[in-house]
Amino acid sequence: MLFQLVSLSVVFIGGILAEYKNYDGFKILEVNFQNPRVKKYVQEIDKNLGFMPDFLGENWKQKQAHYFIDKDSVEKVRTNLDSHNITYQMRDVNPQIFKVRKRRDLNGAVTINDVNNRYLSYDEQMQFLNSIAQQYPDDVKLQKIGNSYEGRSLTAVRIGDDGSSKPIVWIDAGVHAREWISYNVALYLVYTIVSQPAYRDLLNSVQLVVVPNTNPDGYEYSRTNDRMWRKTRSRFTNGRCAGADANRNYPFFWGTQGVSHSQCSEIYCGSRPQSEPEVMALTNAITREETRIKGYIALHSYGQEILYPWGHTMRTYPSDVQDLITVGKAMAAAIRAVNNTDYNVVNSGDGLYPAAGASDDWAKSRGIKYSYTIELSPIDDYTGFSLPEDRINQVCREAFQAVQVLMIEVRSKFGLRQTTSSAASAAAQSSLLLKRMRTSVSRGFGRGK
Ligand SMILES: *[C@@H]1O[C@H](CO)[C@@H](O)[C@H](O)[C@H]1NC(C)=O
Ligand SMILES: *[C@@H]1O[C@H](CO)[C@@H](O)[C@H](O)[C@H]1NC(C)=O
Ligand SMILES: [Zn+2]
Repeated sequence: MLFQLVSLSVVFIGGILAEYKNYDGFKILEVNFQNPRVKKYVQEIDKNLGFMPDFLGENWKQKQAHYFIDKDSVEKVRTNLDSHNITYQMRDVNPQIFKVRKRRDLNGAVTINDVNNRYLSYDEQMQFLNSIAQQYPDDVKLQKIGNSYEGRSLTAVRIGDDGSSKPIVWIDAGVHAREWISYNVALYLVYTIVSQPAYRDLLNSVQLVVVPNTNPDGYEYSRTNDRMWRKTRSRFTNGRCAGADANRNYPFFWGTQGVSHSQCSEIYCGSRPQSEPEVMALTNAITREETRIKGYIALHSYGQEILYPWGHTMRTYPSDVQDLITVGKAMAAAIRAVNNTDYNVVNSGDGLYPAAGASDDWAKSRGIKYSYTIELSPIDDYTGFSLPEDRINQVCREAFQAVQVLMIEVRSKFGLRQTTSSAASAAAQSSLLLKRMRTSVSRGFGRGK
């Protein structure tokens, strides 16, 4: 027994502290792509450099693309940029990002206060969901939709599922492991909509399904081994590298553009469509009730963008794209009303490069009308995937407003059993929200997915 305890603590220290991947010497490359010549260079950066650097995100306000450059490539990248007369910045990575937080003892209940103030382990996330399900047994049902590659449970939180066929808004979070804020946002949505009586009415006519952690293996790995881990943790036969990019693994134009077929790439699309058990579970669960799902949001970070399909190729839009833009702008306006944070509404494919096999494209292809990817805060690369914990709550409150707009829109378009007056007030509320939109849509670079 004593021996077991000792060896466990060695594993703990080994996993959490000693072997957390060292990124000394790595740099963040920032390229300002306002100039068309530079934009063209950036769009072909893989050809120019001879490899595809890890794309982190973009700052659409400053028209900057951000890449993570490994220490052995820094000189080569500098030389290449210089020879193309590209101005750029090579920044040091914020060391705070790689500071390992001490795990809190799992001795107390995980509360909304924890969700608002710190990043949680997968076990803590599940503990929080279990306590919400116990506290609100009529409103919240936890549904297991499958297992991750390493056998962790994939859980859908069904809110307001009363057995009726009312329309559904479906939210996925955290398919990219390092995008930590997305998990807290999903848990916050679950808590807020069931705990606030103000949303009762909305839940009576629209069901919300939230999958707060669509990649638990990758997430735990990003907490214990490698802060920048993005992919799943699948092991492939003869594989040199683990994991696939689950957001390139959906069965719609799979493997065509903006992906890599090499296993070690950050955007490896997997060995075939749905090769990832996480993607198989999600596509099965959604397909089972796809005729009722009218809204879909995949939560990612970072970049403050609301992206709409199609993303698998450029300058190609669904026939109802104007509806997607209108509701996207209403979501952005609702976010801005919280504390003036700007989100850009932009097409997924018109960015630096299209990316096929993403979940929002697939959801749209299944007939889910309002399908989006939201890149949450921040917009800057210095904190990037490690949004400081004291900013978690604001991002949660902003995202909640966006989800509420989508639910109201779905209610007014697809709600059942409405009395004339509630239908009229839903429609009025919806058009009020749409009137609040201010920004016009700009063609930015929508590709952080
Ligand atoms: C870079 O700029 C120099 C000096 O202005 C010029 O001679 C050279 O042709 C430029 N190279 C490219 C690739 O634009
Ligand atoms: C609103 O944003 C400002 C600056 O962008 C920030 O300093 C402030 O803390 C935010 N307020 C809240 C309530 O989050
Ligand atoms: Zn992402």
